[in-house]
Amino acid sequence: MTQPRELRPGIFLVGAIDWDRRLFDDLIPLPDGTSYNSYLLRDEENTALIDTVDPKMADVLVGNLRELGVEKLDYVVTNHAEQDHSGSLPRVLELYPDAVVVCSPRCRDLLVDHLHIPKDEFMIVKDGEALSLGEWTLKFLHTPWVHWPETMCTYLEEEKILFSCDFFGSHLATSEIFADPLAIYEPAKRYYAEIMMPFRPTIRRNLEKIERLGLEMIAPSHGPLYDDPSFIMEAYRDWASEEVKNVVVIPYTSMHGSTEKMVSYLMDALMDRNIGVMRFDLTRTDVGKLAMALVDAATMVIGTCTVLTGPHPNVANATFLANALRPKLKFVSIIGSYGWGGRTVKVIQDMIPNLKVEMIDPVLVKGLPRDDDFRALDELADEILERHKGLKILEH
Ligand code: FEO
Repeated sequence: MTQPRELRPGIFLVGAIDWDRRLFDDLIPLPDGTSYNSYLLRDEENTALIDTVDPKMADVLVGNLRELGVEKLDYVVTNHAEQDHSGSLPRVLELYPDAVVVCSPRCRDLLVDHLHIPKDEFMIVKDGEALSLGEWTLKFLHTPWVHWPETMCTYLEEEKILFSCDFFGSHLATSEIFADPLAIYEPAKRYYAEIMMPFRPTIRRNLEKIERLGLEMIAPSHGPLYDDPSFIMEAYRDWASEEVKNVVVIPYTSMHGSTEKMVSYLMDALMDRNIGVMRFDLTRTDVGKLAMALVDAATMVIGTCTVLTGPHPNVANATFLANALRPKLKFVSIIGSYGWGGRTVKVIQDMIPNLKVEMIDPVLVKGLPRDDDFRALDELADEILERHKGLKILEH
């Protein structure tokens, strides 16, 4: 159980901490669990709930509302229709049938489709529209594509608190209400990589919109809150910028050791040239760590053995994911070994149309690499060094 906790007078955290969840969307590893933050605002005239919780933890939310003696809910603000925040809405509306669901127009359509909420339950709000609760004013800021088309943030003007739902979230189960900058950086970056990275240009636009507010607090719907919003906003500016780090990411799979020898040799050659390297053996990699590495790396070198004329399925999976996440990579190359032939380069190139990258000549080797092949890897490292010299590099 999670108890309700008061953030400021009349503002309560009433969501649930999911300590044990280890997978999200049947895809994303959650090494540190997560939380579904829901907020109750109670002023003299009205009571509003901002977002609900994942339906499997609806009892926690309902228990918290009961513990606070909430007999009447006037509004349920729904910033985002995805079920980890909206999934308990039917239960809340059963308990509080007079509550009005406040959301963006696209969110209404999604809630009707995904949860079968009746169409007459809604108050549709435009971008910038305000709703007075009495003492407090909620202002609704449409922030589409962080990370669905309907997403919005809710700004509590008098308290300068932004309820941002997934935006600035992190999958981190913690008893702390506020984020410790040292502890939160990696979970927040992991979350950005997995959820937000495909939408970098819109993230930048939405950041600009929020920067103007002079926030005192960001209250996302996953992970701890930020009582110093500058930390997470600065991190987002870095991650969503076009600047990259002098780093090469090497995801690879090697069945009989030849590709692994090439990966190890190339790693040393890159390190000799003062280029950072992040290596991922795809038979055991946490894809969240790979996604995080892709947030600001300049180059990806895909290492693959050959299976039935193409890349190993592990490599195809990682390549598909990289293409879907649209990192700001500038260069891609391919290295690896084959038994007697294949179409690996063509297959991989066809899998990455979303990556706005220049291809660097691949190094593909028949069987076990020979001296000439290692020289080709030295040349690849030289080429990467030269290409990186032309980039604007993030130094931290
Ligand atoms: Fe946390 Fe997009 O749901």
